[in-house]
Amino acid sequence: MLNQNTASSAPQNFVGSFRPKNDAVLSDKAFEEWRVYIYNLCGIYFQDNKKYLLESRLLKRMGYVGITEYEKYLEYVKFGSDKINEQKYLFEAITINETYFFRNQPQLDALVTNVIPDVLANKGKLNNKIRIWSAASSSGEEAYSIAIILNEMLKPKYPNLEYEIVGTDINHVVLDTAKKGLYRDYSIRNAPAYYLKKYFKSNNGYYEIDSKIKQNVSFKFLNLFDDLAMKSMINFDVIFCANVLIYFDVKAKIKVISRLYDALNKSGYLFIGYSETLHGISKAFKLISYPKTIGYKKE
Ligand SMILES: C[S@@+](CC[C@H](N)C(=O)[O-])C[C@H]1O[C@@H](n2cnc3c(N)ncnc32)[C@H](O)[C@@H]1O
Repeated sequence: MLNQNTASSAPQNFVGSFRPKNDAVLSDKAFEEWRVYIYNLCGIYFQDNKKYLLESRLLKRMGYVGITEYEKYLEYVKFGSDKINEQKYLFEAITINETYFFRNQPQLDALVTNVIPDVLANKGKLNNKIRIWSAASSSGEEAYSIAIILNEMLKPKYPNLEYEIVGTDINHVVLDTAKKGLYRDYSIRNAPAYYLKKYFKSNNGYYEIDSKIKQNVSFKFLNLFDDLAMKSMINFDVIFCANVLIYFDVKAKIKVISRLYDALNKSGYLFIGYSETLHGISKAFKLISYPKTIGYKKE
């Protein structure tokens, strides 16, 4: 049986509880073929020192579909009659989905103190609708944290403010959790007690996000490396694309960042992860410093 996690409780994905009795070895040649295939599909680049990780993650799925050789499984994913569906499981197998509520508080502070007021000022009095994209949202904690903070800090100041938050990812299991808005302790470990009480319903060890918050947030599958799909993402005021660029090489980062630039409105903002940088990737943005964080503005 595939593991149908209903709540985000751990950073690991599971592609099947079934472990094959299989001593398959990922040869260097097969590793290279797999790495090129995965890279072209979604930009994730498996460095040499991640060979074992790829090997063990593919093996679990191979056990489930009953294939005992890495080369044969690659053929199956590339050319099988159900290849689109199988790619779903491949994405589940190869992604790392670590995330939690209020992961980057300085960014959220910058958002409410500087970024949204600036965006609203640029839009003028007649337009009070903000669109935010949590790109590579994983199970939705980032998107909901943004919604909570907007509701809490900006609604009192801008009562007419309307906002829409879109979360996207390539892992269907974490997207299911995001849509449900149902979490375990692991995800809320950094959430301030006040917000927990106000915006979550706690039930049997689960924390369910309040429906008032949920109504402005939606989630869907989107591969950041898919040019056509990326072209459909337009008119965003702010994009959070955090802790995913680390899995890409420079060429893939340049491609994705350039698409995110196109997806932003003029004077829109981009936030990336704490350990990530646009240095050597893009000169199109203006770097802006905020207390304990930085952001990038499209000019
Ligand atoms: C470590 S999580 C980051 C979650 C969240 N942004 C945060 O900072 O807490 C990285 C996410 O990127 C997603 N991802 C990886 N490659 C992707 C791609 N090509 N397109 C969309 N999402 C991708 C993974 O599925 C995973 O959920």
